[in-house]
Parts: sequence; C-alpha cells; structure tokens
Amino acid sequence: SAYYIHRNLQSSKRVILRDEVRNILRPFQLTEEQIRRVMANLNTEMTNGLKSDEAITNDLAMFPTFVHHGPSGQESGEYLVVDLGGSNFRVSHVVIEERNRMRLNNKIFLIPHSLLLGAGEKLFDYIAECLQRFIDDNKLSLHKSNDHQFDLAFTFSFPCKQRSLREATLVSWTKGFSCTSVVGNDVVSMLQQAINRRKGLRIEVVALVNDTVGTLMACSSTYRDCRAGVILGTGTNACYFENIENVPKWIGPRDNTLKQVVISTEWGALGKNGCLDFIRTDIDRELDESSLTPQQQVFEKMISALYLGEIVRLIIVDLVQRSILFPGRMQKSPSIRPDYNIFLILRGSFYAKHVADIESDTTEDLSITAAILTSIGIHEPSYDDCYIIREVCKTVSLRAAKLAAAAIAVLINRLNMPSVTVAVDGTLFRHHNKFKKNLIQTLDRFVPRTHRLVLSEDGSSKGSALVAAVDRRLKTASST
Ligand code: GLC
Repeated sequence: SAYYIHRNLQSSKRVILRDEVRNILRPFQLTEEQIRRVMANLNTEMTNGLKSDEAITNDLAMFPTFVHHGPSGQESGEYLVVDLGGSNFRVSHVVIEERNRMRLNNKIFLIPHSLLLGAGEKLFDYIAECLQRFIDDNKLSLHKSNDHQFDLAFTFSFPCKQRSLREATLVSWTKGFSCTSVVGNDVVSMLQQAINRRKGLRIEVVALVNDTVGTLMACSSTYRDCRAGVILGTGTNACYFENIENVPKWIGPRDNTLKQVVISTEWGALGKNGCLDFIRTDIDRELDESSLTPQQQVFEKMISALYLGEIVRLIIVDLVQRSILFPGRMQKSPSIRPDYNIFLILRGSFYAKHVADIESDTTEDLSITAAILTSIGIHEPSYDDCYIIREVCKTVSLRAAKLAAAAIAVLINRLNMPSVTVAVDGTLFRHHNKFKKNLIQTLDRFVPRTHRLVLSEDGSSKGSALVAAVDRRLKTASST
C-alpha cells in the first residue's frame, strides 16, 4: 500500500501529505480571523482583570506588582538574586555601577525533580543552601556595608498576589512545580525563614519580582520607550506599565506621584473560562487532562516550551495509531512494539528543542530529523516519517508563534504610544529561530504602530536587582 506519492523536486524529495495528515494538522492552522478573535478576547480579559480580583470569573489575574518606576540611571549597589521558575534555577551576584552598568556573576543549580513536587519548606531550604554555597564559593563579602548584610531580590516566576514589594502570596503553581504548603503563603517570608534557619547567612529579602518585570526593568535602562516585558520560555507571561487610573482594583496609595504601576498580566491563564475553546484541539485537551494543572494555563499550554514538544508527541502518537507513521513497523495501539515504548508512552519525552531542531532541518535527506528521532528511541525512521514529523513540528510551532504575536500585539496596542520597545526573554525567543521569525512576521501584520522586540539578556536576574535598587534609592531619597 503506497501511502505517499513522491515527487522529485530539485534535489530533495517532497512528500505529498495524505488527506488524513492534513486533516489532523488543519485545526492547528490559525486563520487571520481567529487570531483577531484571540486578540479581542485577551484584551477584554485584561480589562476585566484590572477591575476586580474575581478569580472565578476573570481569566487573567492582572497583578499589580508595586513597581512604579523604571530605573533612573542613578541606582547603584550590590545585590544577590535568586531566580526560580524558568528553565534553570540561578543564584546571581549583581553589581550595579554608574549609569546602571551591571556586572553579573551567576551559577546555575540543578533542582532535583523530587523537590519540585515535594514539601515547600524543603524547596526553600534547598534555595538557602545554594545561596550559602554560592557565597562561600565566590568568597563574597560586602564591600561597603557596615552591617554585612546582603539585600536579596527574589525573582519568583509564578502567579503571586502582592501587597507590597516584599509581600507576595502564591496563588497557584504553574509549569512543572507543585510543592505542598506554599500556595496561599507568603513566599518572601518562606524564603526569609529558610535563610534565617541557616546560621551565619545574613541576607534580607527586599523584593519579590516576576521574571517578566525583571525583563522589563533590565531593558528599560537602555531603551526609554520600553514599557513592557514578555517571557516566551518554559512558561509565557507579560507585564506592562498601566496608568493607575485604569486599575479600579488598585488598593495601594493613590497620590499624585504614583501615576503608573507595572501589571503582571499572567496571560498564560487565558482560556480558563472557555474563551479559547474555538481554537482548542482534541490534542490540546488531551495534554491538559494529563498535566499537573488541568483546566489552568490554557493559553500557555498552546505556546510555551514546556508544552510544545508534548503537543508534537501527542500528534505523533495519533499518527502512529492510525498507521500513518512508521507504517508496517508497528501494530495498532494498544500493543505498541517495545522498541517504541519509551518514546511513545513517556509523557514529556519530546522537548521544545527537538521541535526547533526538526523544524529547521533543511538537510536533503532530513538527517537531522532522523538523528533526533533515533536518539529518542525510534530506530531507522524513513524519509517519509521524517518529512511528516517535520510538518507536524512546523505547524505546532507556527501556531505558538502566531498566538504569542497576537498577545504581544494586544499589549502594544494597549500601551498606545507612538513607538514601543518590548523586552523579551525566554528559551523560545532566544534559541528557536523559526519561532522568532514567525512571531515577528505575524506581529508586523497585526500592529501598525512602530514597535520593536529587544532581547533582555539575563533580564530576569539583572532587572530584579534593579527593582531592589530603585526601591532603595526612593527610600533613601524620602528619608533625607
Ligand atoms: C508562568 C508563570 C508566570 C511567569 C511565566 C514565565 O506563566 O505563571 O508568573 O511569568 O510562567 O516564566
């Protein structure tokens, strides 16, 4: 049974996809109209989220972050930063010098998987232990301070309801984290207590900062029109400067000196109440049901790096079960041949990096794709198998890029400035070239006004230190 018609196209072969493959991929191909509807829904949910904290009816949390000002250039000082919640857990020592020039020295620590799902206190104890190791290894001691105490900025990239820069209650875990006894608690004091439990560690946690806010801050010292920060990485989220008069739920001070506040949108949660159902596919629902956070982070699950590989894997499994992939080499489900078991059954065994590498495989014989598939346990995939899988990767990645572009477009339109710079960071934006290209292309189509995306290098750590430094400067100014 010949499944494919082959055609010689210049040097490399082109495989005409069967209708069945096209039908499976079609729901992932977003039309312009669908993208506009996503934009409209996101915009509505952002406005709703600013009105009240009705978590049940609102999709988006729209958390005020208690950051009101970008850096002025006059900040300086020395900070420790703990950055938790991205693809890596990092401890940094950041020195802010004149005109916000920054020196950063950091170390990545692995978080044992058991800690992500274990008792919260253990996670914070581990962070404190890593801090201790970092300080010892780098022989850090403060240069000028008389009390030998480090100020620490805590980049904590999860939905937190803040009551000040130093008070933040975790509302829910997202991404791969799910420690017990943290949700509902103040994570600043949990970290402070863990630090205090280690004798000899003299550190005060002075600010809690979402990674999007760090990304924004780090960039806005260079680009004056930078008013938004976006993360496209393990998860996705954005923050931006909003006028306080547009934030009915703002409970902080309302004096004339405070005109704006940075809002962390938590846009990854979009879709909780069904406003994305018109583009969700069966695969999206399947992924959601077996995730750590069913019915949560619907938008994020269509975009971010933690889920892209899994979407592709689920489509592959579907194609295998329909005997479209690896035909004749595999029986129909459920009795899958043992040599394919590991790859096909293990959730999370296909990564966003695989999607990126396969999607950009331009070799004549798709050897990169073949090598990746072999490395994850699929032996000797045929050219057709590789070709189809590359189509799947392209389709899933393009959808993610279009959705991310739609969201950034809404952000830029809300800012309503003649020109805007958006600070961006995250593995997808950094390392996934096709994703980035598609993102920029789509954005150009949906945003008429002048805009640019700028990579915020180490932004989530550097920017956190800047948040602490701005706060210190303002406090010092008001006490003299
Ligand atoms: C998740 C978190 C959010 C974070 C984002 C990017 O969406 O909920 O707080 O900013 O991931 O790391």
